[in-house]
Amino acid sequence: MTSTPPDTSCSFGKMQHLHCEYSVEMTQDEMKQAAAEAALAYVEDGSIVGVGTGSTANFFIDGLSRMKERIRGAVASSEASATLLSAHGIKLFDLNEVDELLVYVDGADEINPALAMIKGGGGALTREKIVAAIARRFVCICDESKQVDVLGRFPLPIEVIPVATTQVTRRLAALGGRPELRHGFITDNGNVIIDVHGLRIEQPAAFETTLNQIVGIVTNGLFAHRGADTLLLATPQGVRELHAA
Ligand code: 5RP
Repeated sequence: MTSTPPDTSCSFGKMQHLHCEYSVEMTQDEMKQAAAEAALAYVEDGSIVGVGTGSTANFFIDGLSRMKERIRGAVASSEASATLLSAHGIKLFDLNEVDELLVYVDGADEINPALAMIKGGGGALTREKIVAAIARRFVCICDESKQVDVLGRFPLPIEVIPVATTQVTRRLAALGGRPELRHGFITDNGNVIIDVHGLRIEQPAAFETTLNQIVGIVTNGLFAHRGADTLLLATPQGVRELHAA
C-alpha cells in the first residue's frame, strides 16, 4: 500500500521526534526498530541509561551503540541485555552503584491508555521493575499491537519463589485467573514464572497491590503504580508519542 514516496529525512537514523510518516507497509520488527530509534532522543549526553529487555529493547541497544561515546554507560534489566550491551562495548553499571537514572527505556507486552503495562513476557520483570523504580522517566517503546483498552489479554507473568509455586497457584486461581507454570524457565534470580491467563484487569493499580500481598510472589508483571511516562508507539503511519496524564 504505497501512496507517496518515503521522506528520506525521516530515516530511522535521523528520526528525532514525532516523527515521520511512512508510506510503505512495515513489518512488526521494523515498527519495533522505529520506536526504539525514536527513544534515542531521550538519552542525555554523559548519562547512565536504564535499558530494558526483549526484542524491542534489543533494537534500542543497537541504536545506543552508535552513540556509546556520548554516554557513561548503562544499567541492564537482565543478563541477556547485559550481554548484548557488553558485546557492543557499552560500559555496564551495577544497579547498586547508581542512585538515579534519567531515563529507562523498555518494551511492554501490553499497554493501556493510562500507560499502565503488562511486562515480563521475557521473564525479566523483577529487575525491570527495580530499574524502572529509580528512573526519572520511563519511556516505553512498542509497536501498535501492544496497545489495548483493558490489560489482560496477554497472560500476566508472575515471578515466584519455587517452593511457593503450589500455594501461589491456588491463590491466583482464586482471584479468577488460569495460572500456568512456564515450563523449563528459570529467571535471572533463580525463580519460576507463573503466567496467569484469562484476566480482565480493569483496575491495574489495585490488582497490582493485591498481588503484592501474596507471600511467595517476588514480583508481578503489572506496571501500574510505576507505569510509563512516555509511550513511543510505532504504527505504519509513523511513531506516535504519548505522555501519561
Ligand atoms: C521482558 C519484557 C519485554 O519488554 C516484553 O516482553 C516485550 O518484549 P518484545 O519487545 O520482545 O515484544 O517485559 O520481560
